Amino acid sequence: MTEVSHRAQLIRPFMVMDVVARAKELEAEGRDIVRLEIGDPDLPTPDVVKHAAEEAMEHGDTGYTQSLGLPSLREAISAHYTKTYKVDVDPEHVIVTQGTSPAMLLLFGALLDSGDEVIISDPCYPAYPNYVSFLGGVPVPVRVRAEDAFRFRPAEVRAAITPRTRGIVINSPANPMGTVLRASDLEALAEIAEEARIWIASDEIYHGLNFVERDRTILEFTRRAFVLNGFSKTYAMTGWRLGYLIAPPQFVRPCEKIQQNFFLCANHFVQVAGVTALARTDEDIARMRATYDERRRYLVPALREIGLGVECEPTGAFYVFADARHWGADSLALSRTLLEEAGVAVAPGVDFGPGGEGFLRLSYAADITRLREGVRRLREWASTR
Ligand SMILES: Cc1ncc(COP(=O)(O)O)c(C=O)c1O
Repeated sequence: MTEVSHRAQLIRPFMVMDVVARAKELEAEGRDIVRLEIGDPDLPTPDVVKHAAEEAMEHGDTGYTQSLGLPSLREAISAHYTKTYKVDVDPEHVIVTQGTSPAMLLLFGALLDSGDEVIISDPCYPAYPNYVSFLGGVPVPVRVRAEDAFRFRPAEVRAAITPRTRGIVINSPANPMGTVLRASDLEALAEIAEEARIWIASDEIYHGLNFVERDRTILEFTRRAFVLNGFSKTYAMTGWRLGYLIAPPQFVRPCEKIQQNFFLCANHFVQVAGVTALARTDEDIARMRATYDERRRYLVPALREIGLGVECEPTGAFYVFADARHWGADSLALSRTLLEEAGVAVAPGVDFGPGGEGFLRLSYAADITRLREGVRRLREWASTR
């Protein structure tokens, strides 16, 4: 009998981290590796945000804050949603967290009892099913396919609903697929949630990195929703650890109690800098978006040209989810081979669920010269096999 809890055993390892570890080993041995495996912006945090944090630290903003977050940041988040989407968000319903990840613990912790089910796309960002099962819930995968631009088929969502269903997770722009849900998709899912009296958890962390349309929040379509969001990606602030949850009113106090006990609060001076990030970075964000878009426009056709399948154009986040089945059906083995033989690090699609098997995720949060070099190496590798 193992001494490790059943709960911990249920968590699936994130295999891309093995790719990261091996890439670092090879680099330490002196090999040049093109690193396209992780979703960490290569672009720096905007200067105004860094200066705001420095000033806040100088000013002594180094203690605990209210568990729900600084009122000024909660108000700024509410104003951001009003300005961007024309929706009313009461600042009282905003809970500031140390990144979007802890916001998931608050959300699922406040929503789920043991055995409760949550519908999640397959493939998906792997933290979702892990959080759900860690908290005693049951993740219910519903397959999404390249031919549908990785969008749910509403009939399949309806068919997955049982008396134990509590929610559906959506993520647009999506990791790992880079695809964006249309207003009509959000409308259909909102209708399903209202009919079935379940909740939508909408992870909006890649909003701002949408290259062809304007972003749409789930709150434009239904109030049976939680919003997960954060500063990591769009504001290039992964290491700052700042995010938030917008919760329906009856869930705010339960989430506050979880936060008080488990996390106390988010970092004080980082919260102060978050106000500046929301208020004063429109031009920085527009520049970053243009940079990612230029890379995307290069990378997608280049991958198609070397024989990887990109059936549906990714139009958001900074990922291409490419069908690599004719290079190898086992995406983990293939990602290891590409690392060793071509010197290119990518994420295996199976990390994102069985529906991702045969695919590779390439992140273009990397300089365009490195993307060109990565494509050159993959082309050469493919031509000699
Ligand atoms: C879809 C999605 N949600 C949430 C996160 C976690 O973000 P944070 O850094 O805010 O915890 C990530 C990070 O890769 C992500 O891709």
